[in-house]
Amino acid sequence: MALAVTASSSSTSIAFSSNSRKEQGVQFSSSNFQPSDRFNSSPAALSLSLKRSIAVKPLNAEPKRNDSIVPSAATIFAPDVEKAVGIEDIEKLAKNLEKASPLEIMDKALEKYGNDIAIAFSGAEDVALIEYAHLTGRPFRVFSLDTGRLNPETYKFFDTVEKHYGIHIEYMFPDAVEVQALVRTKGLFSFYEDGHQECCRVRKVRPLRRALKGLRAWITGQRKDQSPGTRSEVPVVQVDPVFEGMDGGSGSLVKWNPVANVAGNDIWNFLRTMDVPVNSLHAQGYVSIGCEPCTRSVLPGQHEREGRWWWEDAKAKECGLHKGNLKEESVNGNGAANGNSSSANSDIFESQNIVNLTRPGIENLVKMEDRKEPWMVVLYAPWCPFCQAMEASYNELADKLAGSGVKVGKFQADGDQKAYAKQELQLGSFPTILFFPKHASRPIKYQSEKRDVESLMGFINALR
Ligand code: ADX
Ligand code: SF4
Repeated sequence: MALAVTASSSSTSIAFSSNSRKEQGVQFSSSNFQPSDRFNSSPAALSLSLKRSIAVKPLNAEPKRNDSIVPSAATIFAPDVEKAVGIEDIEKLAKNLEKASPLEIMDKALEKYGNDIAIAFSGAEDVALIEYAHLTGRPFRVFSLDTGRLNPETYKFFDTVEKHYGIHIEYMFPDAVEVQALVRTKGLFSFYEDGHQECCRVRKVRPLRRALKGLRAWITGQRKDQSPGTRSEVPVVQVDPVFEGMDGGSGSLVKWNPVANVAGNDIWNFLRTMDVPVNSLHAQGYVSIGCEPCTRSVLPGQHEREGRWWWEDAKAKECGLHKGNLKEESVNGNGAANGNSSSANSDIFESQNIVNLTRPGIENLVKMEDRKEPWMVVLYAPWCPFCQAMEASYNELADKLAGSGVKVGKFQADGDQKAYAKQELQLGSFPTILFFPKHASRPIKYQSEKRDVESLMGFINALR
């Protein structure tokens, strides 16, 4: 289990976080420690882990197998870790660290919590957290939630990271009975039908809850720029608004986000500069990486979050690990204050060649068996960043089609109109683009994520 513990020679020494502790002039030696102790509980390991079980609870609070009982460096190094924290202390700390570098924040976190803190590593560019922790020279722990649905590239990457840093990642697995129940009743891909929340709850959130019950603090790779909808206010450190730590009760867990204020580009510059290994999926166009069925690559210019749960509303894309980021309105799925966006945002797709359809207008269009002209209609929400991103191309398309016999329209389908649009107009997420052919009653949904003028024209030309 001990991640930052490496056997540095064949017999007697333990170097912490590869060579970094040594650099600080601290080196431990133990005549009992053998390289194989990483995998088996030697007498030394057992006595240390016994001591540890008095001082701290294990990250994985399930019955232990021998291979997870390995002494953690932090047990030896940091006996006086922070036990209880007040909300005010943390708010003050967050203020003091707001301008601090990720390295400084990481150092503070590890110093304060020792063995009671662990890095949550997803297998993506948050490997930067591990590099920062390594650079502090302090012992550190890393855990990953193995949902059973990760890409092969991510599993490979976990292995590479373990070897590169000489650490053991503490994998957390979902409860087999819960996964069985879900898959046997709803199949392997239920998230495409009724949303990702249920599967994420079983495969990610509950294992995370278990992991956090063995800690007093955790470290995540959340950044403000990852999701304009949900992460724009992530502080560098906060009392966890959702989960509990080992002492139980609200306020018993602290959440550190050392790269909250770092831009994605700067993370990548850091990874390159430090020659840190990265997940090979990034070279295939993946930015944000989660489970294989729920992650895909994005095109240049697309936001990274577009590659996650793309069939769902853009604003509520949190799987539950960071549910505290969600505000009431996005949890409700409206994505706009009071369920109606028009007060907070100005409208989009404003062009003389785009017809603004009212509810009766679109109802009529749906009812018509024999239309005089075919129609292209976008179902949109003005606050939706993906709708905003396609505004220029949709306006250009409307200009191109003016006088061609194909009408172009828009229907604002958030707030009160959302239920109708979902039921009658195949609304999945925003934007949904529909083509109403001349001689068919049902509209045809545009399935591609490519929303440039040529792609949309191709769709129309294939159907008109
Ligand atoms: S998610 O909530 O949408 O899945 P995201 O992929 O953006 O999260 O990652 C944000 C941070 O959450 C990561 O940097 C990491 O700290 C944590 N995290 C996400 N997925 C995992 C995972 N499978 N195991 C451990 N931590 C994770
Ligand atoms: Fe399930 Fe997808 Fe969530 Fe992974 S991301 S736990 S596969 S719904």
